[in-house]
Amino acid sequence: MHRVKLADDIYFLGFNDRRTHLFENYWPIPYGVSYNSYLIVDEKIALIDTVERHFIDDYLEQIKAITNGRPVDYLVINHMEPDHSGALRAVVARYPNITLVGNKKTFDMVANYYQITDQSLEVYDDSILELGKHKLTFATIPMVHWPETMVTYETSTKILFSGDAFGSFGAMNGGVFDDEIDLNFFEEELMRYFTNIVGKYCPHTQRALKKLEGLDIKMLAATHGPVWRSNLNYILDRYQKWSSYTTEPGAVIVFGSMYGNTEKMADVIARQLAVRGIKNIRVYDASKTHPSYIISDLFKFKAFIVGSCAYNNELFPSVETVITKIEHMGIKDHLLGIFGSYGWNGGGVKNLKTFADNMKWDLVYDPVEEKGTLKQSKFEQCIELANAMADKLLA
Ligand SMILES: Cc1cc2nc3c(=O)[nH]c(=O)nc-3n(C[C@H](O)[C@H](O)[C@H](O)COP(=O)(O)O)c2cc1C
Ligand SMILES: [Fe+2]
Ligand SMILES: [Fe+2]
Repeated sequence: MHRVKLADDIYFLGFNDRRTHLFENYWPIPYGVSYNSYLIVDEKIALIDTVERHFIDDYLEQIKAITNGRPVDYLVINHMEPDHSGALRAVVARYPNITLVGNKKTFDMVANYYQITDQSLEVYDDSILELGKHKLTFATIPMVHWPETMVTYETSTKILFSGDAFGSFGAMNGGVFDDEIDLNFFEEELMRYFTNIVGKYCPHTQRALKKLEGLDIKMLAATHGPVWRSNLNYILDRYQKWSSYTTEPGAVIVFGSMYGNTEKMADVIARQLAVRGIKNIRVYDASKTHPSYIISDLFKFKAFIVGSCAYNNELFPSVETVITKIEHMGIKDHLLGIFGSYGWNGGGVKNLKTFADNMKWDLVYDPVEEKGTLKQSKFEQCIELANAMADKLLA
């Protein structure tokens, strides 16, 4: 873990999880993740969010060491997902007189998940919680990425405790502040966190950014990843860009293929895009690359070209997984191409057409569907699909 001072009497308590393979039991975290809680010591003592339950012992010890055994007066709950509320009951047990601070929706969840119904202080967007020289204000940012989500602002230091917003995958490898770490390394993990966890809620993120616009923020302290104090624009610009579906000219090509016929089509399309001068091309085998990475790249690049062989009248399962996720996330503003190979009655491309209808993206060329292995006329259609895509990307 890392215990670091953000300001006089304000502490970062970040716990590194390098052991978990899948965040939320779904998203790969090869570089780990951190769960960050914050502690403000004043006339009153306040914790802001807690940590994942595996870290309870060390967490409580750290709090005790910093506070010299004084009791904690408030626990501000910005977000109820168990990676942050996991130590809630342990904190309440240790400090039985603590007051829980949240909004109406927070306390519904506190009751439902932890069966705690008293000692709560409901706050609103205009509430002020006085701790002494530190004062806390609050702003709800619903659905970034849960209904109860809010942020907490400390007025004397101008630190915004932002919950999951502006958070990142990746454990803290020593560096905690943005100016202590390799941002090039963290950018991918930051983006994967945003796109995978928050990405379905881009319109809500846009509303949240608008709401926070007037706030004078000196430091952004999220519940995962680095604390931002020197490069606030770096992170704010990226959130602005990603949540408005602003992409670069480039193509994500995803295929599902058992015996290589559909993959061959993907390679022909990729090659022609390169011949036409497109440099950002990512080709993924849907059975090998987790949707986490494909979704993240979709927020980078404008074009999505997806192929599936036919499989028992349907899509190939791994392609079905990734396009279903994309559909559910409601990702907007992309160019689309579809292709695939079949043996007798099809099923892959047919379902990709339904995906195209549902997404309402710009289908740049007629679906290319080959029976068996790629032959001359469909080879030419793959080239034409790539040309149509390149024309739009270069326009
Ligand atoms: C288990 C299995 C199920 C299949 N189901 C269908 C099907 O329902 N309809 C169809 O047209 N072809 C079906 N096929 C044939 C494949 O779609 C066809 O061989 C295609 O060329 C495979 O492309 P690939 O080399 O990219 O895997 C099936 C093949 C296998 C092995
Ligand atoms: Fe969360
Ligand atoms: Fe989280």
